[in-house]
Amino acid sequence: MAVDKTYYITTPIYYVNDAPHIGHAYTTLACDVLARFKRLDGYDVHFLTGTDEHGQKVEKAADDAGVDPKAFTDKVSTNFRDLAAAMGFSNDDFIRTTEERHKRSVQAIWKTLADNGHIYLGSYAGWYAVRDEAFYTDSELEKQPDGTRIAKASGAAVEWVEEPSYFFDLSKWQDRLLEFYDENPDFILPKTRRNEVISFVKSGLRDLSVSRTTFKWGIPVPGDDDHIMYVWLDALTNYITAAGYPDTESDMYRRYWPADLHMVGKDILRFHAVYWPAFLMGAGLEPPRRVFAHGWWTNEGKKISKSLGNVIEPNALIEQYGLDPVRYFLLREVPFGNDGDFSHRAMIGRLNGDLANDLGNLCQRVLSMVAKNCDGAVPDPAGREDASDDALMNQAAATLDRVRAELDVQSFHNALTAIWEVVAEANRYVDAQAPWALRKTDPERMQAVLYALAETIRRIAIIVQPFMPDAASAILDQLAVEADQRVLANMGGKELKPGTQLPKPEPVFPRYVEEEEG
Ligand code: MSP
Repeated sequence: MAVDKTYYITTPIYYVNDAPHIGHAYTTLACDVLARFKRLDGYDVHFLTGTDEHGQKVEKAADDAGVDPKAFTDKVSTNFRDLAAAMGFSNDDFIRTTEERHKRSVQAIWKTLADNGHIYLGSYAGWYAVRDEAFYTDSELEKQPDGTRIAKASGAAVEWVEEPSYFFDLSKWQDRLLEFYDENPDFILPKTRRNEVISFVKSGLRDLSVSRTTFKWGIPVPGDDDHIMYVWLDALTNYITAAGYPDTESDMYRRYWPADLHMVGKDILRFHAVYWPAFLMGAGLEPPRRVFAHGWWTNEGKKISKSLGNVIEPNALIEQYGLDPVRYFLLREVPFGNDGDFSHRAMIGRLNGDLANDLGNLCQRVLSMVAKNCDGAVPDPAGREDASDDALMNQAAATLDRVRAELDVQSFHNALTAIWEVVAEANRYVDAQAPWALRKTDPERMQAVLYALAETIRRIAIIVQPFMPDAASAILDQLAVEADQRVLANMGGKELKPGTQLPKPEPVFPRYVEEEEG
């Protein structure tokens, strides 16, 4: 079957100087859920993540570690691959900016920008923050009591830089960009972030320094080896490298570019929503369709930082609570786009509440009643269905449209809320129908009730797959649903066949018992 619906989604590429933490896991997780959802919805998905390995910041980290940058990045970039495996990410590609395909692509975009007259040689004198790999103007800085300056937005220290530099003519793109935002109202989400970007652009853009001469770790400017390309021009280009650029006629490029979504944190929105579309337009390429800026996590109310020693390691969380509960928590606890606070209390609340009590108990109650009272086989409604059964099953099927609409605007929390409304309804239905009592008074009606519940659980499990792939697959296994019958198109019909033998039910979400209590 030819697939005509494509979906290209990207994470930021991560600086390798840091060990992976919850912030990195969060951005990629959001993309993973969308990628999985779109695949189940019949799209040809390309999901890209990777590592940002050039620039002064990484060079310095390598230096501090006493190794050369190549050896350093080879070693630490594997930490991000390991994170992807630990978090169950389903990325189709993992790009490293030190790869040959990327060097070729970055040099090609540079040449095109230069040929199109958008790059000129000048000299830069101003402030630079290595931590952010960003240039700042005076008004963006705050003077410290000791006379040093930090960037207001990020708190990063800046240094004075004066050197020859190539510039990109960003100042000329102001009107084109404003027009572009206007014509594409959903290009930047959420809306509040969009407004911030628009007022930044309206306040006037300055030409952007796009090369440096005072360090070596990066991609040289074609024809002028003294200059190393600005790491953000290098890094942003990864999104087209992975789509086959500069081969714009390739099947890959035509299929996937422009990307449907660049997922980023709010701190790096400006690079993606201002510089990147301007570079692309300058090179005669199409801008991406959307940039979504999510919020930041704090830890028990405090900013997460290495110096505070409160970095949350994804592996430690997974070990403590299990992978699927962590995936669920991160996307359910905080409206996507807002900042959020991680706390163990909230994590345990979600695990024991939404997962163990609500979904876990629903499955366990229903499947163990089926095991005991229906000879361990899918029950037979045998003409004893009533309107309430259909109402429940239909409500479950109807979540698909709601979830699809919510995910199309990256509202993960609302998508999960919609699914959990059905979980709650199904639990109410169990109580109201009391199949354990029907067992004696009306065993045939009991079968019809259990059938409606098993069907509802099947539908819930199908739509839970993108969020919690392992748990959903365990539930679908317990309902003997074939591997090729688990796509979203399978949500609607009554697909469970009465009489099908089921495996022995096992609890999917054990309660988390705190140590003091245990
Ligand atoms: N290398 C650049 C991106 C280049 S993309 C062409 C970069 N890397 S990063 O490793 O510093 O950050 C990557 C992502 O992690 C960003 O989207 C950032 O917002 C996110 N997070 C880092 N700390 C975070 C939290 N505490 N909470 C949520 N996300 C955070 O920037």
